[in-house]
Amino acid sequence: MRLHGAHVLLTGATGTIGTRLAEGLAARGARVTVTARGRDALDALAARTGAHPVVADLATPGGPAELLAASASAHGPPDVLVHNAAVELVGRLDDLDASALADAVALNLRAPLELTRLALPGMRARRRGHLVWVSSLAGVATFPGLGPYGATKAGLTRAAAGLRLELRGSGIGTTVAELGPVDSSMMDRARRHAPAEAAFARARRLRVLRDLDPAATAEALLDAVDAGRPHVRLPRRAAPFAALAAAPGLAVRLALTGIRG
Ligand SMILES: NC(=O)c1ccc[n+]([C@@H]2O[C@H](COP(=O)([O-])OP(=O)(O)OC[C@H]3O[C@@H](n4cnc5c(N)ncnc54)[C@H](OP(=O)(O)O)[C@@H]3O)[C@@H](O)[C@H]2O)c1
Repeated sequence: MRLHGAHVLLTGATGTIGTRLAEGLAARGARVTVTARGRDALDALAARTGAHPVVADLATPGGPAELLAASASAHGPPDVLVHNAAVELVGRLDDLDASALADAVALNLRAPLELTRLALPGMRARRRGHLVWVSSLAGVATFPGLGPYGATKAGLTRAAAGLRLELRGSGIGTTVAELGPVDSSMMDRARRHAPAEAAFARARRLRVLRDLDPAATAEALLDAVDAGRPHVRLPRRAAPFAALAAAPGLAVRLALTGIRG
């Protein structure tokens, strides 16, 4: 989907990656709606990029519908949804706070599905749309202390794969970004959990992972959307692992359902 002139609804727009996505979208001539909960950061971003700000809490049941309605009032229905908002959950499951767990599942998994469910009929009618899912290598491999967070990201990746099949021939594309560690406050928080940090340190030492630069990551993601590519796997050195993890799933799907691709 060519981003120039497209209406892009970007969630998590005030975060480390979201800010760079918003700036990159503005530079590419997209009409952008940016959203997050914090009004001040959102207004500052909107002033800098010319985006339309909408405050929304996507972990609440009505958040996705309210966001979609508010974004359409400025720019019409979105052509592109960028599902970027998420929170990390770090630690042993029995140490996690109950409301943090519920909010993370709601924000990371339910909200993108609900936003997509609501936006799809219009996209289908217009035969135009693109869905971008910001997932994680934590959804591909099990990192210690990141099991529940990884489950939300694996769910996102799986939902996007199912949707890709449903959208064949519809004019609506999908891009899934499977990202390794990004230089960010989210990653800093994950690293405070010693078993997670030990796994990341080992991966860095063996050079199978490196910390990604947020601006370069955002640019690579937007390039993939502009080119209509279904996957972005970063860092490049980790891409074969994500593809390797997906391969048996494709073979099993072919065997169980007869569906290719
Ligand atoms: N950072 C990494 O190392 C890394 C690695 C792989 C994948 N990813 C993925 O990349 C994406 C962006 O990560 P990031 O590091 O840029 O995150 P971040 O800096 O923590 O930003 C999170 C964004 O989500 C918003 N948000 C949080 N709770 C919300 C809620 N209930 N409703 C609506 N918005 C909410 C935040 O704004 P408010 O708090 O104001 O609402 C903020 O704009 C995420 O999907 C993450 O899983 C990140």
